[in-house]
Amino acid sequence: MEVKTSLLDNMIGVGDMVLLEPLSEDSFIENLRKRFDHNEIYTYIGSVVISMNPYRSLPIFTPEKVEEYRNRNFYELSPHIYALADEAYRSLRDQDKDQCILITGESGAGKTEASKLVMSYVAAVCGKGQEVNKVKEQLLQSNPVLEAFGNAKTVRNDNSSRFGKYMDIEFDFKGDPLGGVISNYLLEKSRVVKQPRGERNFHIFYQLLSGASDDTLKKLKLDRDYSKYNYLSLDSAVVNGLDDAANFRTVKNAMQIVGFMEDEVQSVLELVAAVLKLGDIEFKPESRCNGSDESRIKDKNDLKEMCELLGIEQSVLERAFSYRTVEARLEKVSTTLNVAQAYYARDALAKNLYSRLFSWLVTRINESIKAQTKARHKVMGVLDIYGFEIFEDRDNSFEQFIINYCNEKLQQIFIELTLREEQEEYVREGIEWTNIEYFNNAIICDLIENHQNGILAMLDEECLRPGTVTDETFLDKLNTICAEHQHFESRLSKNSKFLTDHSLPHNCFRIQHYAGKVLYRVEGFVDKNNDLLYRDLSQAMYKANHSLIKQLFPEGNPGKVNLKRPPTAGFQFRASVGTLMKNLQTKNPNYIRCIKPNDKKASHIFTDSLVCHQVRYLGLMENVRVRRAGYAFRQAYEPCLERYKMLCKRTWPHWRGPAREGVEVLMADLPVPAEEFSFGRSKIFIRNPRTLFFLEERRRQCLQDLATLIQKIYRGWKCRSHFLLLKKSQIVVAAWYRRYAQEKKYQKIKSATTVVQSYTRGWQARKLLRELKYQKRCEEAVTTISAFWHGTQARMELRRLKQEARNKHAVTVIWAYWQGTKVRREYRKFFRANAGKKIYDFTIQRIMQKYFLGLKSTMPSMSPIDKSWPARPYRFLDGVHRELPRIFHLWRCKKYRSQFTEEKKAVYEEKLEASEIFKDKKALYPSSVSQPFKGDYLEISTNPKYQKLNSAVDEKVLLADVVNKINRANGKGTARIFLLTKKSVVLADQKTGQVKASVPLPDLASVSVSTQSDGFFALRLKEGSASAVKGDFLLSSEHLIEIITKLHRTGATAADSKQLNVDISDEFLVQFKHDKVCVKFIQGAPKNGNSVSCKRKNNRLLEVSVPTTA
Ligand SMILES: Nc1ncnc2c1ncn2[C@@H]1O[C@H](COP(=O)(O)OP(=O)(O)O)[C@@H](O)[C@H]1O
Ligand SMILES: [Mg+2]
Repeated sequence: MEVKTSLLDNMIGVGDMVLLEPLSEDSFIENLRKRFDHNEIYTYIGSVVISMNPYRSLPIFTPEKVEEYRNRNFYELSPHIYALADEAYRSLRDQDKDQCILITGESGAGKTEASKLVMSYVAAVCGKGQEVNKVKEQLLQSNPVLEAFGNAKTVRNDNSSRFGKYMDIEFDFKGDPLGGVISNYLLEKSRVVKQPRGERNFHIFYQLLSGASDDTLKKLKLDRDYSKYNYLSLDSAVVNGLDDAANFRTVKNAMQIVGFMEDEVQSVLELVAAVLKLGDIEFKPESRCNGSDESRIKDKNDLKEMCELLGIEQSVLERAFSYRTVEARLEKVSTTLNVAQAYYARDALAKNLYSRLFSWLVTRINESIKAQTKARHKVMGVLDIYGFEIFEDRDNSFEQFIINYCNEKLQQIFIELTLREEQEEYVREGIEWTNIEYFNNAIICDLIENHQNGILAMLDEECLRPGTVTDETFLDKLNTICAEHQHFESRLSKNSKFLTDHSLPHNCFRIQHYAGKVLYRVEGFVDKNNDLLYRDLSQAMYKANHSLIKQLFPEGNPGKVNLKRPPTAGFQFRASVGTLMKNLQTKNPNYIRCIKPNDKKASHIFTDSLVCHQVRYLGLMENVRVRRAGYAFRQAYEPCLERYKMLCKRTWPHWRGPAREGVEVLMADLPVPAEEFSFGRSKIFIRNPRTLFFLEERRRQCLQDLATLIQKIYRGWKCRSHFLLLKKSQIVVAAWYRRYAQEKKYQKIKSATTVVQSYTRGWQARKLLRELKYQKRCEEAVTTISAFWHGTQARMELRRLKQEARNKHAVTVIWAYWQGTKVRREYRKFFRANAGKKIYDFTIQRIMQKYFLGLKSTMPSMSPIDKSWPARPYRFLDGVHRELPRIFHLWRCKKYRSQFTEEKKAVYEEKLEASEIFKDKKALYPSSVSQPFKGDYLEISTNPKYQKLNSAVDEKVLLADVVNKINRANGKGTARIFLLTKKSVVLADQKTGQVKASVPLPDLASVSVSTQSDGFFALRLKEGSASAVKGDFLLSSEHLIEIITKLHRTGATAADSKQLNVDISDEFLVQFKHDKVCVKFIQGAPKNGNSVSCKRKNNRLLEVSVPTTA
């Protein structure tokens, strides 16, 4: 929750002088002092802020403070300049009222600082954004530029503004800054050429010399040494706490931000340099023959450099410093200048150059910060004008006169708006009011600005008058015309009162300003008011080859010679002050009244007399009195009712009657004491700010409640319309859904109906069908029955007919038999002897005929192994039945044999022989039956590989195969080609074909094989034969059966030899060289696959293990 605070919290002294009790000048000063001692430099008088210059930085201008004061009520926090700035800004933003901040006070009282604080506060709280920030930055950065060129150190203020400044900051409807316009008032240009003791020229000269780079200085033909320049006073060239070099950089940077071009900055600096150079041009007198004195330039070097700088022809300027041309009605008169006049001309040029440059700077800045849109905007004006100045120890001159006149006008506007206007308003409005006396300075303003006999008017008159015009003649005039004025004092006036007043010298006059008496020395008034620059000089300047200079001296254009005198300085100033006042009167004023606590620019010192003086002339006591006696706030009835009508049920939301009555009703309804407000004719007056706060607070709460109400209603409305929309949509959706559901339901019913219908129809159809079927069956049954019946009838008839026919046939047969019998009985006696035998033979013949003809179609096949034969039909054919198959078999075997060739026959013979040898004796035999005997497995006669071997064997090869020769030592086999011819058996190397052994068949005694399925065989040689030397051969072959059969056959056919013996036994002896070794065949478990293994067991035993064949 927001904590409610008030300026009354932790208040030191009294924050608002209106609350001061008792109110006296002493208590007023005491309150200020007390607060000042506690660093409370701000105090209110109602809505006016009194600001004491602390002369040191206080931690109350931080961004946090800005936030603290932002959007808070004026009296909510302790007095601060931010509160005033916030109030003004919000009033501008929210109530669309143009504002002006009027900052008044003596020189050095803190006006310029206050104006900067206001601007920085507004910049901090207004809108943000790239564009807005740029505008803000430019507005803020215009300050350092103007301060450098327009401020100077004075005895009262190290940074005293020597020009008046009024800045309008423009805002859009949101309160975002759009741009600004700066107006400047009368720069104190006399300072350029001469500075009072203890003061300096404008800051920029010192900044340029100490801050610019060597390079820049060289370009500008300047020297860093201040003492070189006549225009720079030396006694306070360096100011404590002022870093000119750093400030120069700040200024350059600020110029860049504001939007000055590089060359523009350069031109400006060139002009500043030119002014310094100008000061160094000195003149010496030279007597002419006519007796007059003429001036000559002492040292032309400075002139030359300056001319180079500005692009002016040296001779032109030199001439302009020596002659003065006066043009009058087509006549041109040239007079020479004496030394004094030359110096005057020089200084006038310097002053004009500088002041015009300053005005140009303001124009240029305005160009940059100008609002970019033409849209309607609101304005906040900040006025920081030079403060009231009185010099006790030196002359007050024309400048002080002008400055003080301006302050007089400001005081006037303050009085107008706060004192007179307020009191007059009470009277006007018929509010009971006891008048409060205050000093109205209108009379002083009149003394100065009156068009007929005002001091400024008379000064102008003097300046324009032909004849000799001097400051003295001007004073004389004043003495005659203003003598009677109660605020004008002069020694020579007719008012004898001052005749003996020695404090009033003869060449002076004194004005009793609102802020005190000021003694003005008339010397220089006429000149300064004239502000004369010889035309020769302005023309010389116009001729310069420098764009900026040319712009600054447009009257130097020879094409546009204007013989009219330019308006005087006083006239110009009066006019611009008049415009300013008019401008300020259209805006809502906010006052900051600055007070200087001491004359020493020191912190912590509070000089009672000085403060008291300021309090007096600023009319602050009167201000408090009026404030206390009067009403803090007033407002016309209509806007008041409009603003607060929500605080009362009867006036809210509309009041039908007159606004005043509405406000009366409203106020009566509120818990506010009656003495707190009064009803005027057109306005309500509220005595206390607190009452206004109370109203504002109530309004704020009310607005919050209203906002809540509006929100509530709006939300309600929104929800309701949303709900209605939902409802409407729901109805639509429901309607659609129902339609859809009904459609579905209808379709369901429809399809159900269809199903039911189809079932019913089906059922009916089936029923009908059944009936029809039944009918049909009945009809069919009838038909069948009738058919059966007819059939039965027919069959019975047929049977009857057949029976009849059989009977008939039987009768016929019986008749035939009877006839036969009768015939046989009759003819028996004629052929009984051999008829029986003939009938028998005939019958037998017929039966046999039928049998054989039958056999023809039932004969078995021609295969010799087909044993079938058709069955015999009669038993008496037993013999035939036995003999016929045998004959048929023999015949078909003969037929079978007759198709055999000789070779095939030989093969079959071999096969037959093999069968005789091995059948049922060797297990290998059955597997060999189906293998045809090929004989020459190696194709020895045709294969070129065996050509040599073939030629080595001269006989025809009966068998050629690869066999394994079993090594007798270890039982391993070696492949050998085995050849069998009619005469011998040859063993040859398989690879080379070289004959290893050749055994003539007669040398073979026998062949031994096992009974098992192995391919081992031993060729046993006849003892004593030539071949037997090496011993028997133990071989193994896949074609064992064929080899042995062929050996057996060949051995048999070989001439004069016995048949070769074939021993079949599982144990036989083989002659190996000298030993006899027993080869034994055993049945072993299949090892290494299904192969037969042969092992030499010992000297006597070679064991062959044959896997058992399944
Ligand atoms: N609020 C402030 N805080 C600190 N110093 C201040 C303040 N106001 C003024 N001063 C000091 O007083 C000097 C003079 O203030 P300035 O505003 O230039 O006076 P004025 O414009 O009234 O002649 C400033 O240079 C600064 O040193
Ligand atoms: Mg100032």
